[in-house]
Amino acid sequence: MTTINVGLLGLGTVGSGVAKIIIEEANLLTQKLGFSLKLAKVCARNLSASRAYNPPADLLTTDPMDIVGNPDIPIVVELMGGLEPARTLVLKALSSGQHVVTANKALLATHGQEIFQKALETSRELKFEAAVAGAIPIIRVLKEGLTANRIQSVFGILNGTTNHILTRMTQDGLTFQAALAEAQEFGYAEADPTNDVEGFDAAHKLTLLTALAYGSLPKVADFHVEGITKLEPEDFAAAAEFGYVIKLLAISTVDQDGRLEIRLHPTMLPKGSLMAEVNGVMNAVMVRGEASGDIFLSGAGAGMMPTASAVMGDIVETARDLRSGSAPQVPALGWRNAQTLAVKSQDDVRLAYFLRFTVIDKPGVLAAISGILGSHNISIARVVQKDHDPKRGGVVVVILTHEAREKDLLTALAEAAKLDSLTAPTRLIRVEKLV
Ligand SMILES: NC(=O)c1ccc[n+]([C@@H]2O[C@H](COP(=O)([O-])OP(=O)(O)OC[C@H]3O[C@@H](n4cnc5c(N)ncnc54)[C@H](OP(=O)(O)O)[C@@H]3O)[C@@H](O)[C@H]2O)c1
Repeated sequence: MTTINVGLLGLGTVGSGVAKIIIEEANLLTQKLGFSLKLAKVCARNLSASRAYNPPADLLTTDPMDIVGNPDIPIVVELMGGLEPARTLVLKALSSGQHVVTANKALLATHGQEIFQKALETSRELKFEAAVAGAIPIIRVLKEGLTANRIQSVFGILNGTTNHILTRMTQDGLTFQAALAEAQEFGYAEADPTNDVEGFDAAHKLTLLTALAYGSLPKVADFHVEGITKLEPEDFAAAAEFGYVIKLLAISTVDQDGRLEIRLHPTMLPKGSLMAEVNGVMNAVMVRGEASGDIFLSGAGAGMMPTASAVMGDIVETARDLRSGSAPQVPALGWRNAQTLAVKSQDDVRLAYFLRFTVIDKPGVLAAISGILGSHNISIARVVQKDHDPKRGGVVVVILTHEAREKDLLTALAEAAKLDSLTAPTRLIRVEKLV
C-alpha cells in the first residue's frame, strides 16, 4: 500500500495536535483514504521541551532542512508561526517541488503575493484552511462550494480571544482590563495580547477571506483596523438599551464602483441576529453569495485539536490529489487570474453611528451638538440622556445617527470637540444592520 510522508515544521500547540492525529488516528485515516499517511520528520527548536503530545524521539530534528527539500517528503506542514524563517522555508519547499500546508495567517497576509505566486509558478499546493477561523472549513467553502457565486459580502467574528472578552463585558459588565486578565488566566489570551486586542490577527484573516471572495489580496495597512481596548462598560449598557450587542466584526464587500470596502472594528449588531449570538471563544463567518444567499458557519476558532482538525483536512486533500497525480486541482486562492481592486477610503464608508458624548449639564448643549451634526448632513435617529456621571464630570448623552458618510461624521465630531461644554472625548461605535 502506498504511504505518503508528511514533514512537520513546528511542534507547538497546533503541531502537537497534528502529530497526535497522524500517529494515533493512522488506522482511521487509512480506512478513509485507502493509503497511509506517515509522519516522517518533525522540526522544533528545543527537542527536550515537554509537549502536549510527544512523537517518537527518532522523528525529531532541529534542522528544518531535514524536511524542506527532502525528496522523500512531498508534503511540508508549516506550523512554526512568525514571518521568518517561515517565509523562506515555505518558498524553498514550493521551489523544491513540495506541497505546503500552513496555518500561518500573519505570513500569508504579509507575504501572500510572493507565496501565492510561487505556488502558481511551481504548480504546487498551498493550503491554509487553519489560518482562518480554526476548525471552520470556510476556505474550502469559498474556494469550492461557492465557486460559482459572485460573493456580495463576507462578515466574520475571526478572533476568539476578543470575542470572549466582549462576551464577558456584555453579559457580566466587566471592564476591558478585568475581562482581559481573566482571558489570560484561562489561557485564551497571550501574555502580550496586542495582536488580538488591537485587531491585527482578525485583520490578517480578513485579508485572506477577501482574497478568496473577490480575487484581490489587500494589505492590512490599506484598511481601517480598530481593536477593542477603548470600549467601556457604559458602551455595552447603552448598546443593550438600544437593542444592540458589540462585536469585533470583520467586513468585506465590493461597492457599486468596484471598490473593495474592507474594515475591522467594534460594531454594534442587532441583538438576536446570528452574529450577535456568537459568544465566548467561538468564531463565525457569514458569506452572502449571489446564487447561494446567506451561508453562516460557526465553530471553534483556535486551540490544539480544532486547529489540527483543519490542518489535517488540508493534508488529507493534498495527499489524495498527490495519489491521483492531480495536485494542485484548485489554485491556492481559488482564482487563476488575480485582480487588484482599489480599497475604498474609510472616509467614504456610509454607516449608522453610535456616539457617546459627555457634556456639562446645562441648557442648550444638546441643541449645539445636534446643530453641528445637522450642519454636516447627519440626522439623528435616537437620543438618550443619562444621569450625571461624576467619573467623567458631566452628563452622558448617547446619540444614534441615521446612515451618514464617515468623513462628514468625523468632521462634525472634530467641530463638536471644540465646544467648552464637552468634558471628555466623544466615543464612536459603528452600527451594522446587514447581519
Ligand atoms: N494556537 C492556535 O490555536 C492557532 C490557531 C490557528 C492558527 N494558528 C497558527 O498556527 C501556527 C502555529 O501556532 P502554535 O500556536 O502552534 O505556535 P507555537 O505553540 O508557538 O509553536 C511553534 C512551534 O514552532 C517551533 N519553531 C518556531 N521557530 C522555529 C525555528 N526557527 N526552528 C525550528 N522550530 C521552530 C517551536 O519550537 P519549540 O517548541 O522548540 O520552541 C514550536 O514547536 C501559527 O502560525 C499560528 O498563527 C494557531
